[in-house]
Amino acid sequence: MTLCGWVDTYRDHGGTLFIDLRDRYGKTQVVFAPESEAANLEAGRRLRSEDVVSITGKVAPRPAGTENPDLATGQIEVRVRRVEVLNKSKVPPMKPSAKEQPSEDLRLKYRFLDLRRSEMQRTLILRHRMAKLIRDYFDELGFIDIETPMLGRSTPEGARDYLVPSRVQPGMFYALPQSPQLYKQILMIAGYDRYVQIARCFRDEDLRADRQPEFTQLDLEMAFVDANDVIGVIDGLMAKLAKELLGSELSLPLPRMTYDEAMERFGHDAPDLRFGMELVDVSDLAATADFRVFRETVASGGKVRGMNAKNAADRYSRKGIDELTSYVTGDFGAKGLAWFKVGDERRLASPIAKNFSDETLAKIAERMQAEPGDLLLFVADKWEITCKALNGLRRRLGADLKLYQPEQMHFSWVVEFPMFEYDKEEACWAAMHHPFTSPRPRDRALLATEPAKCRAQAYDLVINGFEAGGGTIRIHDQKLQSQVFNLLGIDEETAATRFGFLLDALQYGAPPHGGIALGLDRLVMLFGGLDNIRDCIAFPKTQRATDMMTGAPGEVDGKQLRELGVKIIRE
Ligand code: AMO
Ligand code: AMP
Repeated sequence: MTLCGWVDTYRDHGGTLFIDLRDRYGKTQVVFAPESEAANLEAGRRLRSEDVVSITGKVAPRPAGTENPDLATGQIEVRVRRVEVLNKSKVPPMKPSAKEQPSEDLRLKYRFLDLRRSEMQRTLILRHRMAKLIRDYFDELGFIDIETPMLGRSTPEGARDYLVPSRVQPGMFYALPQSPQLYKQILMIAGYDRYVQIARCFRDEDLRADRQPEFTQLDLEMAFVDANDVIGVIDGLMAKLAKELLGSELSLPLPRMTYDEAMERFGHDAPDLRFGMELVDVSDLAATADFRVFRETVASGGKVRGMNAKNAADRYSRKGIDELTSYVTGDFGAKGLAWFKVGDERRLASPIAKNFSDETLAKIAERMQAEPGDLLLFVADKWEITCKALNGLRRRLGADLKLYQPEQMHFSWVVEFPMFEYDKEEACWAAMHHPFTSPRPRDRALLATEPAKCRAQAYDLVINGFEAGGGTIRIHDQKLQSQVFNLLGIDEETAATRFGFLLDALQYGAPPHGGIALGLDRLVMLFGGLDNIRDCIAFPKTQRATDMMTGAPGEVDGKQLRELGVKIIRE
């Protein structure tokens, strides 16, 4: 047979030369026996890591006792007859098969070497399989894949736009899509009642482990549906992906909880449900305690909430608790972390215990379902801060205390999000999802009276504490759409210039419709058990939105700028 690939490792065992040849499909041991032709042996001895070679030889079982059960090809080897060097490699700055992962900077700069690593190959192949399963699934359900433009107008998904200057109309700009949101709604009005696309989106926002400036959505939209229909379609997709990619059976329907319940029980709208340790409100008990922080927080309208880390009292020394305290104060703006260790007969021990009557301590222990050996942790603050701090703490403890298996996955829905959140800086209402989201029918009257109480027909898919997707039933009535724009402080003129085409289209027979978009990069991350989406993208950007391999973004020459009528202002 003839094998082509890259020299992974080479070993010279006193006359016999071994090479592991690597390609996309794995590694194979190649043997140059001492009795090989001299020219072959000589060529073999000159081979170095990452040289590209073509080897012709005979496949033979490895001599008894030298088989390698860890390698798929470990039973055989290829005995060389002829070797051809197709290309020499410079000494690579990183070895694709090294056990230790090189630094991420190096990996991103030499991405062509990094992508030779089996982990990267596995992830990109997983991504390919996922995309294929997705396309097949939607094809079977009668969805049509329709491409939407990259050069368009701004869609409000809450991030800054990437702008593209127009040469033909100097001073004018296209915006790259933050999502295909408006086009897919237009497609519903145009009568294509089941649209799907694996779509590129662009958002100029602060980057994190689960965010890239350029990312991919599985985007879909359906006409004549309600929230249950869209959720049902995605339930089916998740079951299919779990079965085909993980070999596990999901039981459907996936569980749902409302936004209010998620915030109350977990302090977050994408709770990690792989483990319990729910938040418990003890404000009523704290209100009567002598402990000033608790009493005054409640008196001024705040909350005292906490959680029970089961059997964790011995896991955290004073120093360990100090670390947890600086975590909640430093990262989430809490003012402190109150704690009790639960002793025999559920007695609560803590430096602050003397500020509570025995009766109150007993009630706290009861409310927290405390048992000897547990650690109780509390934050007293404004409701929002108790949510943020305790959610952060809960996630950290979940990982520290290994409350779930690394390969465990949990899928669920969070539904009925608020329509609006109040933007204190701008002193106005902002759409929690986007401005095209429909309120629950029974909440429509609240738009005029109490927007804060108005709940949306919105649903987020949550996997392992990550928002994997989000969608809504849309407004298909032009009057309601104008009312919502109004509430959001988008005046008629702005609405007309920015979304005039949508408001127009809504008046020409718009069917009821709704949809969702899932982050494909995030899905690959979660199904692949990875912890950042850069590892799920062939050519990702760094936290500073640069591509270390190509050097993008880069400068352009003056002529191009002049043609575009663009002038650079350097501050
Ligand atoms: P949304 O803004 O919630 O909704 O985005 C949908 C999903 O896209 C993923 N996502 C991202 N992934 C990587 N990097 C990013 N910067 C990034 N931003 C978002 C998330 C998110 O859940 N048009 C609506 C969908 C709809 O209403 O149908 C939208 O874009 O997984
Ligand atoms: P202090 O009275 O500030 O010394 O705080 C005593 C204990 O209460 C310390 O362990 C603090 O971390 C904790 N603590 C202080 N403020 C808060 C708060 N807002 N919520 C929870 N615990 C707090």
